[in-house]
Amino acid sequence: MRDCYILGIESSCDDTAAAVINNGEVVSNVVATQQIHEEYGGVVPELASRAHQQNIVPVVHQALRKANIDKKDLKAIAFTRGPGLMGSLLVGTSFAKSLAMGLDVPLIDVNHMQAHILAHFIKTDEQRRPNFPFIALTISGGHTQIVKVTDYFEMEVIGETLDDAVGEAFDKSAKILGLPYPGGPLVDKYAQKGNPKAYPFTKPKVGPLDFSFSGLKTAVLYFVERETQKDPDFVKNNLEDICASIQYTIVDYLMDKLKNAVKQTGITEIAIGGGVSANSGIRQALRDAEARLGWTTYIPKFEYCTDNAAMIAIVGELKYKAKLFADQDIVATARLKM
Ligand code: KG4
Ligand code: ZN
Repeated sequence: MRDCYILGIESSCDDTAAAVINNGEVVSNVVATQQIHEEYGGVVPELASRAHQQNIVPVVHQALRKANIDKKDLKAIAFTRGPGLMGSLLVGTSFAKSLAMGLDVPLIDVNHMQAHILAHFIKTDEQRRPNFPFIALTISGGHTQIVKVTDYFEMEVIGETLDDAVGEAFDKSAKILGLPYPGGPLVDKYAQKGNPKAYPFTKPKVGPLDFSFSGLKTAVLYFVERETQKDPDFVKNNLEDICASIQYTIVDYLMDKLKNAVKQTGITEIAIGGGVSANSGIRQALRDAEARLGWTTYIPKFEYCTDNAAMIAIVGELKYKAKLFADQDIVATARLKM
């Protein structure tokens, strides 16, 4: 097959990323994660934008160097148009436009949420691919959606969060427990040694395919305040059980919604994506669902779950082959719909 190098650029939140893909295979995948937000306990948009400005040129250079190609070898430039933080998106969008214009190659806009789903089509050694139609559950710090995927570019959001994203539920609960940002992976770590039934938290009631996580955060806060009044060392002495109980509630809630989606659509091919896909509880629950419910489940390699540019590049390639190009007057769109 002839080489067809496509550069993907991702700058929607706090990761500056660039990747090169060639006929479905990732030849380089570079991510500069911004550490600056750690001390603030969450992403600070203005600081994210500034860090993208510093990172973007070196990150793209590194992606080209690792791919062992020259910029003149690129067939197209794909970039994240949205959704995301405006100041962050602007950096990647402007850079991609200039580079495409300078090299006189097509510019391709990518929807970040579609990219999380189409990351399943990046070629890897062991990977099975979801068959259309499938249900995608995208779970991260910025999004929580259930999407019915009929084809590469035929997607319908059938459920989503009405307030916080699931990753925020993990991170905000972790913050209440005094854990550093982002707390999701730490909640997961402690949960593995705890009793998931130690402290029951109620699952918020919304539509069958929608989510709400703001109530859970408040429930955790009141619970911790109440128990700490009785025992100042409550969190320290029961951290594993608290984390296990929070994680159990969240995972059970996600699985309830997936079951509703399967019931409503009759589709049992389930693909997940987004940073929270790393969670051991959701992974185990999906494996159990394969055995008990006859679902077929797909989890991408971890580096393609969290925010990355390889997923932008694969969408770029699919759009390049379909000749779906953007004009130079395209604008970054913070609340871009599917
Ligand atoms: O996709 P991602 O890297 O960035 C976006 O938010 O788009 O997702 C990051 C989120 C954070 O909220 C982080 O706490 C969560 O994913 N996360 C986890 C785990 N690993 C990452 N949450 C629970 N368990 C994990 N193992
Ligand atoms: Zn994302």
